[in-house]
Amino acid sequence: MKLNSIGLETDKSKVISKDLNVLLANFQRYYQNLRGIHWNIKGKRFFDLHLKFEELYTDANTKVDMVAERILTLGGVPTHTFEDYISVASVPVGKNITKDDDAIRLIVDSLKELLTIERGILKASDEADDEGTNSMMSDFITEQEKTVSDDESLVGRRYLRNM
Ligand SMILES: [Fe+2]
Repeated sequence: MKLNSIGLETDKSKVISKDLNVLLANFQRYYQNLRGIHWNIKGKRFFDLHLKFEELYTDANTKVDMVAERILTLGGVPTHTFEDYISVASVPVGKNITKDDDAIRLIVDSLKELLTIERGILKASDEADDEGTNSMMSDFITEQEKTVSDDESLVGRRYLRNM
């Protein structure tokens, strides 16, 4: 069995790097969704939501960097072009969204997709004894579940019931 420089099985680390690149692509789309609603949101809750979306995209930006650097630590190469991202991203694309409820819905739908990908990586990293990736996914999942819950409170939990 071949081990890489951090003592993990090379083959398993390659698979996890590939999965992390899928997560990276999806985070980039989520980030752009958040920028879009930060810029275009209108209505009575503009000030609150404009700031809230900025907080979320700043956090997403930090996570993008964490994922990319984890890929490097595992011996992989993080993707960085829009072309790469478009070809693998599955998070929904939000375009010209101005209404508060639609914006929140976009965040919840995006996070649902990110959470599904992260749970897959959590399982694979557990099987590979890759504690670094595992704890990162675990932290992301906990934080994003809280964001979904907060967002649903913003719109009276009506989306939770519809899912
Ligand atoms: Fe801004």
